[in-house]
Amino acid sequence: MNVTLAIFASAVCALSQSFEPANFNITKALLDNGVEASAIPKISDLADRSAFSGCSAACASLKLTFGSKIVAEGASGYDDFSKSYWSQQQEQVSPNCVFYPTKALDVSTMVLVSRLTKCPFAAKSGGHASFAGASNIEGGITVTFQNMKGVTFSKTKKTVDVQPGNVWKDVYTSLQSDNVAVVGGRVASVGVGGLTTGGGISFFANELGWACDNIESYEVVTASGVIVTASLSSYADLYWALRGGGNNFGLVTSFKMRTFPLGKMWGGDRVLLEPQIPAAIDAFVTLGKNSAKDTKAAQILSFAILGGEKFAFAQLEYAEPNANAPIFSEWNKISAAQDNIGIFTLAELTEKLDVVSPFGLRQSFWTQTAKLDKDLVNFILNVFYEEHEKVADIKDLLNPLSLQVITVPQMQKMRQNGGNALNLDPSQGPLLLFNPAPTWTDAADDDRVNRMIDAMFKRTAAEAEKRGLASKYIYMNYGSKYQDVIASYGSANKARLKSIARKYDPKQVFQKLQPGYFKLEGAPAKLS
Ligand SMILES: Cc1cc2nc3c(=O)[nH]c(=O)nc-3n(C[C@H](O)[C@H](O)[C@H](O)COP(=O)(O)OP(=O)(O)OC[C@H]3O[C@@H](n4cnc5c(N)ncnc54)[C@H](O)[C@@H]3O)c2cc1C
Ligand SMILES: *[C@@H]1O[C@H](CO)[C@@H](O)[C@H](O)[C@H]1NC(C)=O
Repeated sequence: MNVTLAIFASAVCALSQSFEPANFNITKALLDNGVEASAIPKISDLADRSAFSGCSAACASLKLTFGSKIVAEGASGYDDFSKSYWSQQQEQVSPNCVFYPTKALDVSTMVLVSRLTKCPFAAKSGGHASFAGASNIEGGITVTFQNMKGVTFSKTKKTVDVQPGNVWKDVYTSLQSDNVAVVGGRVASVGVGGLTTGGGISFFANELGWACDNIESYEVVTASGVIVTASLSSYADLYWALRGGGNNFGLVTSFKMRTFPLGKMWGGDRVLLEPQIPAAIDAFVTLGKNSAKDTKAAQILSFAILGGEKFAFAQLEYAEPNANAPIFSEWNKISAAQDNIGIFTLAELTEKLDVVSPFGLRQSFWTQTAKLDKDLVNFILNVFYEEHEKVADIKDLLNPLSLQVITVPQMQKMRQNGGNALNLDPSQGPLLLFNPAPTWTDAADDDRVNRMIDAMFKRTAAEAEKRGLASKYIYMNYGSKYQDVIASYGSANKARLKSIARKYDPKQVFQKLQPGYFKLEGAPAKLS
């Protein structure tokens, strides 16, 4: 090895070891947090016990330290907590205990106790991730941020510190009296934590980028329990990784979000009948391609078959109280069977969209992208109809397919502040993002539903490839457990994410002790 290379290698090595020393002492770190590990019941003879007995020790010790912030399985409040998940799959997971931290230091202690006892954990913000284990963990410690709901302006009100126990409606409601908003979710009960760490598509994406592109800094609890603030100027690598890297790098205890001025908006949805569908597809593709002309516009076009009839639903928004924005002229010519568009506050709009997404059903989100192309949209829709037909007999099945556009302006905005982890290139845009999201009620049908979408995706991916329109990007927040999200960011970004994880989390705490959701290596599950 030549000298320069050797120096470089040792410098890299020193850097990657400096965050958590090889001889990191968990007991000592807990003491520094004010927790005496030797007083923890059963902890002394944990050595080679199973995760389950580790978890009884972990939960007992957290109970001793935190009292009412811990709710054990079977205790009062436990069942209500389960019902706070959106999907039935997550609701049916039973953690050994539920932890309600009130501050970052509590979260730090939980991570250290998990390491000491080898008891796995999961973290929940709004609980809208659909598959089991994404934000709840069987037999482990589930952390809920429910008691961390701060929304605190900076002096200038240019930024706001938002804690992860918030759902979007709460955030927007807190901000609206100051006539400002932040770039976040479009449905009231979705959480700040999951949406923002996975990317975050908002009504304002064309103008400002995704939620993760509008975070000034993250307060994050790392694997060694150290609490850092990651921004463009400190821990910049971690800051980049948190912009789309999901739950792989730490638990975010506060998001410093940029605000922007916002009054009332124009928006809502329109129900369209089958004869209007071709015009709707035209209007959708036109707007997707022309979005740079007026970045205040947003759209989602969804399809469903209800009682044997084909319907489309157009969700349209404009970031001003203007019902006649020229960018929507093609859309506004299409006659709707029902028109629920009006002038609303952002919080009101998110509430309107929430009523179509009830809690407690079986859910499966899937997503694929391709280059935006009208003929391909028609192909995808026909494949969807054909595959839907094969499962239409499933009890209580509702099977919507939603289309969005990852526009060129969105991708350009992703480049601000050092860029994000998603690897979306404006010169390859605009992209069509499509998202089947079936719901049903009987677990016995899970396999048929998922196979139907898998079959649909095999066909649509092959066709996009054949037409030269393929894109491998998989949006984390819409991904199914059978999809490898991080690999879809490209091999260079995946390697960079893994090296950042090695630096901040050398013992792979967030890979192994927090096993749920999209990890750095591989899809969460295989369709057998
Ligand atoms: C009805 C509905 C509407 C939606 N609307 C939108 C939309 O408008 N735009 C959009 O982009 N997506 C949307 N989504 C997708 C949504 O972004 C994802 O479901 C997202 O995971 C939800 O976040 P959550 O906090 O509610 O979920 P959770 O299930 O609580 O969390 C999801 C994942 O994020 C992790 N996580 C949560 N908080 C933190 C934290 N503080 N630090 C580190 N990791 C954390 C969790 O551990 C988990 O792995 C929607 C989903 C649904 C069901
Ligand atoms: C870790 O720290 C604790 C508490 O300070 C100490 O008692 C113990 O000896 C340390 N363990 C090692 C291996 O250094």
